[in-house]
Amino acid sequence: MTAIRPLVAGNWKMNGLLSSVSEAAALAELLRSNDEIEADAMICPPATLIPLLAERLTGSRVAVGGQDCHQIESGAHTGDISAEILADAGASAVIVGHSERRADHGESDATVNAKALAAYRAGLVAIICVGETDAQRDAGETLDIVAGQLRGSVPAAAGAGNTIIAYEPVWAIGTGRTPTADDVAEVHNHMRTQLIAIVGDGESSAMRLLYGGSVKPSNATELMAVENVNGALVGGASLKADDFFGILSAYTAG
Ligand code: PGA
Repeated sequence: MTAIRPLVAGNWKMNGLLSSVSEAAALAELLRSNDEIEADAMICPPATLIPLLAERLTGSRVAVGGQDCHQIESGAHTGDISAEILADAGASAVIVGHSERRADHGESDATVNAKALAAYRAGLVAIICVGETDAQRDAGETLDIVAGQLRGSVPAAAGAGNTIIAYEPVWAIGTGRTPTADDVAEVHNHMRTQLIAIVGDGESSAMRLLYGGSVKPSNATELMAVENVNGALVGGASLKADDFFGILSAYTAG
């Protein structure tokens, strides 16, 4: 099996002003002058910045993604944004099913599944997020919760070329707490196995599985070294080019 090329994707969430374009440009410059980093990079800024970043990052090693999309292509859905609009603005991927969307907007697995299909329809890669809450973890339900979310959220049409899975324990997001490397390994191995039933053996074994939740430069090397972890989805530490680059540096060859 050929090695899976890692991806470190930054989720800027509801952060990012016009002036933040310079952080993205700084990251692109750091990657340009440090070509020993063997990973792809992506920034998912607020939608207002997608065209600006896409233009500024053309020809760089940093791709641009959206943070959410509506299921349908266009129409009377005030405040929503479709996958087609994101693609038109210059995005190549979109995060769907982030726990903040699931919690704040009541998104179900079925909704997330429909959003992933919308991403495929628009030619975008779907970054599908799953992860257990603190209470579910304490109840020993982590593996069952994650498996259920995968079954519900990942379309049968998913494959390694159009889909990336991000395991983000809800209790680790923005808290500074992370699971142990052993815990991450257990979940990621389980996800790889569970995905076989949904997308088949070949696609499952080639699909990128990201870890997300309080990833920072100081813990990236350990977390990214875990079996079946093919990169990271990074919130807070993606806002500053130096921090983001520090995480990408976990993938320095040798
Ligand atoms: P965090 O967020 O890195 O700030 O914990 C991760 C995420 O929600 O994607």
